Amino acid sequence: MTPHHSPKNLANVDTPAVVLDLDRLESNIGRMAAVAREAGVALRPHAKSHKLPQVARLQLAAGATGLTVAKLGEAEVFVEAGVGDILVAYPIWGESKWHRLCELRRRAQITTCADSAEVVDGLSRAATAHGVEIPILVEVDTGFERCGVAGPREAVALARRITESPGTAFAGVLSFAGQSYGAQPGPGLEAVAASDARRLLGAAEAIRECGITVPVVSAGGTPTARQVARISGITEVRPGAYAFSDRDQAALGWGTLADCALTVVTTVVSRPTPERAVIDAGTKAFSSDQSIQDAAFGAIIDHPELTPLRLTEEHGILHVPAGMRLDIGTRLRVIPNHGCGTLNMHDNVTVVRDEDVIEEWTVAARAKMR
Ligand SMILES: Cc1ncc(COP(=O)(O)O)c(C=O)c1O
Repeated sequence: MTPHHSPKNLANVDTPAVVLDLDRLESNIGRMAAVAREAGVALRPHAKSHKLPQVARLQLAAGATGLTVAKLGEAEVFVEAGVGDILVAYPIWGESKWHRLCELRRRAQITTCADSAEVVDGLSRAATAHGVEIPILVEVDTGFERCGVAGPREAVALARRITESPGTAFAGVLSFAGQSYGAQPGPGLEAVAASDARRLLGAAEAIRECGITVPVVSAGGTPTARQVARISGITEVRPGAYAFSDRDQAALGWGTLADCALTVVTTVVSRPTPERAVIDAGTKAFSSDQSIQDAAFGAIIDHPELTPLRLTEEHGILHVPAGMRLDIGTRLRVIPNHGCGTLNMHDNVTVVRDEDVIEEWTVAARAKMR
């Protein structure tokens, strides 16, 4: 059997398939671990990006102190997989979720965050009933205008409430500078990191002035992780997308397209006109995530001359330049705009080193929306 016909070769994997390149993954994990190590901050990768216990283990082995997740369902998967320290960075609301959080707290070091008295009070009641203590970070809005208290005064009030409530412990402050996705690489990202840190550290300082210790000052996001990690007073960074990277991260300067570990392997299934080709992957394979740059749905490896125009559910439509030969049956590998959303569409990921298929991993924490 030639390597091409080996079932262990990528060329034989049926399409569309999402493929994870282990060499690139390990390199990205190592690069971010070095960023945190050299800056002297803790690294708590957001695992909603990769959804894979196997990747979590690599991150922890490279020095991550624990994981971040958004949803309790994700936390449950990673605790089950043996991860002992998880931040649920999301406002947890409602009796059934408070119950699940307390149950998890018995099994692992679980921290969460809040930006309202309502969430703190609910967590306090549940923790008291369960006989556990829930550490809570106060989320501060540093310009993304999503969750987070507005400023130092509100942060102090919530920190006090957490400190004074039974069953809860104040753990520090947290922000997510998602506005970085609208910034220019280089100086633009430096400016976002600086204003994120200034507002987060301002809240931390106001809380300290009230005599409350602020152990953790945690800032999020891949685009600004390198910049914010170096700012004095920041104790932790929570990048997520860095492990796979994707077309948008490359555009923002987290490596290049050659560092992207996640790709979708597709096949040309139709050539209706000389300038149009159709591949067998649409939004079911890529998700509908738009790029921060343009209307393209990804980048075609080795074929920058092909323009990925648009997706329907099962079709990807490409523009083919005049005179280019592109036969039906040709396999194309596409770097998605957004790796996190892409992997969320797949039950399994094919794991490769170069063209060799190593394993198939179940995407254990996919689609955990509760
Ligand atoms: C609260 C929080 N922290 C960290 C991250 C990780 O950010 P990124 O995906 O930019 O690395 C996210 C991503 O959405 C987030 O919502």
